Amino acid sequence: MTDTSEQDRVIIFDTTLRDGEQSPGATMTHDEKLEIASLLDEMGVDVIEAGFPIASEGDFEAVKEVAARSVNAVICGLARAKTGDIDRCWEAVKFAAQPRIHTFIGTSPLHRAIPNLDMDEMADVIHESVTHARNLCDNVQWSPMDATRTEDDYLCRVVEIAIKAGATTINIPDTVGYTAPAESAELIRMLLERVPGADSIIFATHCHNDLGMATANSLAAVDAGARQIECTINGLGERAGNTALEEVVMAMKVRNDIMPYRNRIDTTKIMNISRMVATVSGFPVQYNKAIVGKNAFAHESGIHQDGMLKNAETFEIMRPEDVGLSETNLVMGKHSGRAALRAKLKDLGHELADNQLKDVFVRFKALADRKKEIFDDDLLALMRDSTSDAAHDHIQLKHLRVVCGTEGPQTADMTLLIEGVEHEVSTQGDGPVDAAFNAVKALFPHEARLQLYQVHAVTEGTDAQATVSVRMEEDGKIAMGQSADTDTVVASAKAYINALNKLLVRRQKTKPA
Ligand code: KIV
Ligand code: ZN
Repeated sequence: MTDTSEQDRVIIFDTTLRDGEQSPGATMTHDEKLEIASLLDEMGVDVIEAGFPIASEGDFEAVKEVAARSVNAVICGLARAKTGDIDRCWEAVKFAAQPRIHTFIGTSPLHRAIPNLDMDEMADVIHESVTHARNLCDNVQWSPMDATRTEDDYLCRVVEIAIKAGATTINIPDTVGYTAPAESAELIRMLLERVPGADSIIFATHCHNDLGMATANSLAAVDAGARQIECTINGLGERAGNTALEEVVMAMKVRNDIMPYRNRIDTTKIMNISRMVATVSGFPVQYNKAIVGKNAFAHESGIHQDGMLKNAETFEIMRPEDVGLSETNLVMGKHSGRAALRAKLKDLGHELADNQLKDVFVRFKALADRKKEIFDDDLLALMRDSTSDAAHDHIQLKHLRVVCGTEGPQTADMTLLIEGVEHEVSTQGDGPVDAAFNAVKALFPHEARLQLYQVHAVTEGTDAQATVSVRMEEDGKIAMGQSADTDTVVASAKAYINALNKLLVRRQKTKPA
């Protein structure tokens, strides 16, 4: 179990891969989950909730592999209060050096009505499920879902049952983001005072952000005695999301005078993982988001800039470097060499082996030929593009020429390599992007539905690269495609093809043997 011997130590429990991934459309691939788990482990997260193993074969495999590869973190899986769920969860997490089973049931009146259990019947289910989990694993977390709308007396009763049955962490979820900070603190205080055995376990706080109070509620709960915060990178999560890891961690760091708690997070890794999660989930970070938003450290107004130049502390309560933003943003141009590129990418959190560097360098030079100044964000977009294994993709873009302008019809001439064989077509569409997408569809007919198409400029200026995200759905399977290019239509076609390739991999994986 995580060492919690010291009173001021707060356990950081990240659920990006479980509650975060539950956001409609935020589905991540197996490899993306592994990469995020490894970044979470590296940054010092204590507990990684890697998924809900009973939910699907894919979830099971991901939790199992995250568990097998884990280095420092406790690896946790979620399970309903059912023997089958708990067994499946154990089958996946048992490969971790430090496994945890997290089992839950909804305890509020509304949630009790769903399985139609009365208070006593539910109490029995809780006793049996936690006992079963504890017989499998020494580290068991139990959650009364919708705890903040559960009657106080009943909540105390079921928490006591779970502790007696062997739960080592009791999580108090504000499932619908209904609570206010004073109530969040009061709830933890009440449980600590009233529940026998409460001092022998860790209380966790798990907040949702429906009223924008998740961070405040989590910190208030810690002030009252909770010692585990459940959170996600960028606050990813269903509806308005979960508590944002970067917000609670930086709040405890910057205001340690009034929140004297410690955690193991290396805050300089925050930006890198934030960008990674935004990319793979397809949920871009809002510009004015605390800590990780593009404008979080930008000082536009003249008064602010003047103050900043004289003394950065005038308007800055934390330094950009504290969250992993490097100070100089203008990086390189076409004369920059391989060593400089390697050093800059290392600075941005990407350490490359020689063969990877060789490939990225070729792409960097191609970009530098088209774009005079290359910024950090350009390099990060380049890296994201090169993580998709284009050379092995089933479908590859070989050539694209579009005709567009005030005089339609907009036309796309496209050549694709499909399993290495060239196919050509010329199609029309309602605009150049539509024409390009129609060309892909004509060359590779499919039923997948386009759910989302998003374009962002990576940097400023008319020569900026466009990052395009495309989300596609086929038979309930969802895939995100991404690409960046100074030509928006090329980036769009590549992102569409990237999503299709991912769907093909999924089709393959779920094909009956
Ligand atoms: O919000 C919630 O109640 C949850 C539980 C499953 C812990 O995510
Ligand atoms: Zn939740």
